[in-house]
Amino acid sequence: MLQNAVWIRSPYETGEACPEFYREISLKEGVKSVRLAASAVGMYLAFVNGRRVGDELFAPYWTQYEARLQYQTYDVTTLFAVGGSVELCFLCAQGWAVGTIGFDRLNHNFSDHISLIYELEVEYEDGSRERFSSGEETKVRTSQILSSQIYDGELIDRTAEKKELGPALPENLTVHLIYQEGEAVREQEAVQAVRYFVTPAGERVIDFGQNLSGYVEICTDGMGGGRICLSHAEVLDREGNFYTENLRGAKQRMTYVFSGEEKECLKPFFTWQGFRYVRLDEYPAGEPDLSRFRARVVHSDMKRTGHFVCGNEKINQLYHNVIWGQKSNYIDVPTDCPQRDERLGWTGDAQVFVRTAAINYDIEKFFKKWLKDLAAGQGEKGEVYGIAPNVKLARETNVSAAWGDAAVICPWEIYLAYGDKEVLEAQFESMKAWIEYMHGAGEEEYLWLSGEHYGDWLAMDGGDYVGATSPDYIASAFFAHSTLLFVKAGKVLGRDMSEYERLYENVVRTVKERFMEKGIPVQRTQTAYVLALHFGLCDDRKAAADGLVRMIEENGMRLTTGFVGTPYLLHALTQAGRGDIAYELLFQEKAPSWLFAINRGATTMWEHWDGIRKDGSFWSSDMNSYNHYAYGSVFDWIFGSCVGIRVLEDGAGYRHISIKPLPDKRMGFVKASLETRLGHLESSWYYKGEEVCFEFTVPEGCLAEIELPDGLTQSVRGGRYVYADRKVRWYNRG
Ligand code: BGC
Repeated sequence: MLQNAVWIRSPYETGEACPEFYREISLKEGVKSVRLAASAVGMYLAFVNGRRVGDELFAPYWTQYEARLQYQTYDVTTLFAVGGSVELCFLCAQGWAVGTIGFDRLNHNFSDHISLIYELEVEYEDGSRERFSSGEETKVRTSQILSSQIYDGELIDRTAEKKELGPALPENLTVHLIYQEGEAVREQEAVQAVRYFVTPAGERVIDFGQNLSGYVEICTDGMGGGRICLSHAEVLDREGNFYTENLRGAKQRMTYVFSGEEKECLKPFFTWQGFRYVRLDEYPAGEPDLSRFRARVVHSDMKRTGHFVCGNEKINQLYHNVIWGQKSNYIDVPTDCPQRDERLGWTGDAQVFVRTAAINYDIEKFFKKWLKDLAAGQGEKGEVYGIAPNVKLARETNVSAAWGDAAVICPWEIYLAYGDKEVLEAQFESMKAWIEYMHGAGEEEYLWLSGEHYGDWLAMDGGDYVGATSPDYIASAFFAHSTLLFVKAGKVLGRDMSEYERLYENVVRTVKERFMEKGIPVQRTQTAYVLALHFGLCDDRKAAADGLVRMIEENGMRLTTGFVGTPYLLHALTQAGRGDIAYELLFQEKAPSWLFAINRGATTMWEHWDGIRKDGSFWSSDMNSYNHYAYGSVFDWIFGSCVGIRVLEDGAGYRHISIKPLPDKRMGFVKASLETRLGHLESSWYYKGEEVCFEFTVPEGCLAEIELPDGLTQSVRGGRYVYADRKVRWYNRG
């Protein structure tokens, strides 16, 4: 569809206000089906006689617009069944393509105005067809959304009169339209307000009890008209006042003007907020009726696949926060955070969390789309920028190690989780270009010694954002790691990878020569040792593991790692036989630690280990989100080591797995499951006195290598397996 349609725009500049493109359509008798296809530069919602078409939010979504712009199709047959003259209307907003994007609040990422394209295709029972498209008869008027920005919120005025702006103008636009590839974004659940209170500063605040992404729907039946204005925030400050400084340039403000109709519910159309608290900036005096307020949780429509519960309530809360971190940040693209003036597809964040994310939800489709945009935004030399889609900011984001490596790590993880080679095929050239970029980035062929990196972002061992670990070392270590993954990906596709195997060997050898001494890293930081162990870059693994444990002990059994070291920290310890220390870090309650935030009542993952300090002060007002999923990557250790389920590289898609649980009494028990492409997979363990009992369910078509702490090993296929009362039993053997 859309072959006959042309792009159109408003005859007048509408700025932040939302225009409506509309027309009357009369269909003949005998309609069999009516289909609508549409897209916009900006965002759009379609209505037929005032009734909303579908329930998707933020279409046509966010892609690398210069290269690809999605369109959607809808079956609107029933909406047109009313007969007679029917109004087709598109309410549009600036969205990502035209509105404010990025921390420097630049407008017009792609275009300086909204455009629309649509086509309605009618099929009659006699086989004839009729088409109505954007080129003809479309007019434009103002709407009741007087302003809309993703970061700032909306002003919806139900009393505003719509003004005619005249016939739509043709728009000269060349874009490559593609059919929708990603998941739709929808309202997913509702959260009721739990508490109303007045802060010491006299602010009237409602608490939803959960930090989330979405918006507040307000229903006013019997309240009459009037204006309601809400601000949104994630946390309260030390004094208990409403805190918005960490939102930086994002206003997160909603204004609703009600018409006064008997029963009226209002919510935003083209924006979302990251919040747990709302402040009633304008609201009738007295205590508000909390039942009028409902938070609508908004995210991409991914199927939940993973579940986990254990006997330790703090770890259960940590898992809850990981899940909410994903819900809050998987809104069409994987974003860093949902509240401040970013909400960008930061590649590093996406990369560190992807394995965890693929356990929690089915993210195959979501990532396939995003990875194509990552590839489309790659520079001529193969550089991968900090964010994808890559948008215009005051200056380009850095081409940084561990961020750019998302180009290789993410397709590889998606392949491992779902077993379909297609993602490797689709991304192969993008992966290769990134490897070649690193290959040519510095003066030394086999090291990456230049560039501006984000380093071990937000690590606790550096005075600055980038942490103490040498960026040159991190960059060269990731050069090795990604080259190895690229070789593996190529072999899966049956390609000759000998050139890159040689490259890998050379990089590893050179990294060892430059950055290792006596088989361990020269630089003594936790992250340096973690990368050496996890990426196989040190010859003396025992000495490196001992050294890492010593550094942790010297730091009061606490980590210092940032975005780069943290995701691998517990894995590196466990692989080196120090699962005991991994558990010490997991159960550590003093900052920096995962449970520190839990003890402070966190309901989502914090960006910074010290987001709120012990005395209630903030480490910074600048880089301090309370909904950043990066450190939530700890769940892939909980699932992979504590529960013990890991997919093996020769059995992508859970065709060949290892089940090797690591019990610890402080967990009480664990029970985890995953809906794999093959079916239900489950692992649990619990204590009977001093004995640990294990129960596993292996789906048909899966070969599982079971290894228990007492040394028992067994290769099993589909079925249920119980190891209890010092006996091994199995049921339903496949
Ligand atoms: C983002 C991060 C991101 C980083 C780059 C920040 O502003 O919120 O999560 O990865 O910049 O270092």
